[in-house]
Amino acid sequence: MKFKQIVKQLIDAEWVARVLEVLDRRSDNRMAELGILSQAFEFIKINQVPGDYFEFGLWRGKTFGYAHRMKHRYGRHDMKLWGFDSFQGLPDTEEHPDNIWYKGQFACTRPEFEAILKSRGIRSAEYELVEGFYSESLNDSAHRRLSGRTAAVIYIDCDLYDSTIQVLNFIQPYLVNGSIICFDDFYNYKGDPEQGEQKALAEFLQKETHIGFIPYLTYAPLGKSFICRLK
Ligand SMILES: C[S@@+](CC[C@H](N)C(=O)[O-])C[C@H]1O[C@@H](n2cnc3c(N)ncnc32)[C@H](O)[C@@H]1O
Repeated sequence: MKFKQIVKQLIDAEWVARVLEVLDRRSDNRMAELGILSQAFEFIKINQVPGDYFEFGLWRGKTFGYAHRMKHRYGRHDMKLWGFDSFQGLPDTEEHPDNIWYKGQFACTRPEFEAILKSRGIRSAEYELVEGFYSESLNDSAHRRLSGRTAAVIYIDCDLYDSTIQVLNFIQPYLVNGSIICFDDFYNYKGDPEQGEQKALAEFLQKETHIGFIPYLTYAPLGKSFICRLK
C-alpha cells in the first residue's frame, strides 16, 4: 500500500472514531437542553398553560431553535418566541475566584443571529427580539411590547447573577400558574448557592413571597427547572 493511502486510512479511522465518540456521548442516558424543552412543552400542553416562550441569553440560537422545534411539535402555532439579548455578549462580569466568564463572551450580532434562524427555517413572524443589555432593555417599552401576554416557558441562560436578577424582576407580570422556568446554569460556580442563577433565584423568592417555584426537572450539565405557582 502506498504511503498516501495508509495516511488516508489512518485519518479516516480517526475521524470515524471521533464521530462515534460524539454520538455515544449524545446517547448517554441524560436529559440536556433539548430534553428539558421537550418536557416543558409537553407539560404546558397537558396542563393547558397559556402563553409564549421567553428566552434570556440567545448567543447563536441553539436553545431558541430547540424551542421553535417544540412549538411546532406540540402544535403551539400561536405561540410567539421572544428573545432577549445584548447581541454584544456578556456585560462586565463579577469579580470572583470562581468566575469563568469575561466581557463580550458569546457575542453574536443581531443580523448574524437572524441569519442563523433563517437558515433553520424559523420565520421572522414567529419571533420578536428585544435588543440591549438588560439593565437598559428590560424597561417600560419592553413591557408595552409584551402587554397582555403571558409566559408558558421561560429559558434563562444569561450566566451571571446580575443578569439573572434583572430577568427575574422583569418576568414577574408574565408568570402564571404552571409557567415553566428553566435555569441553564443553576449549578454553575461549583454549585455555590451564593453565586449566579442560584443566588438570584433565592433572593427573588425571598422578596416576592406571593410567588412559589416548585422544583421540576434537573438537566445536564448544570440546569434546573421550576413550575411557577402564584399564592
Ligand atoms: C451562554 S450564552 C446563551 C447560550 C444560548 N442559549 C445557546 O443556546 O447557545 C449567554 C448569552 O447571554 C447574554 N447576556 C448575558 N447577560 C446579559 C445582559 N445583562 N444583557 C443582555 N444579554 C446578556 C449574552 O449576550 C449571551 O448571548
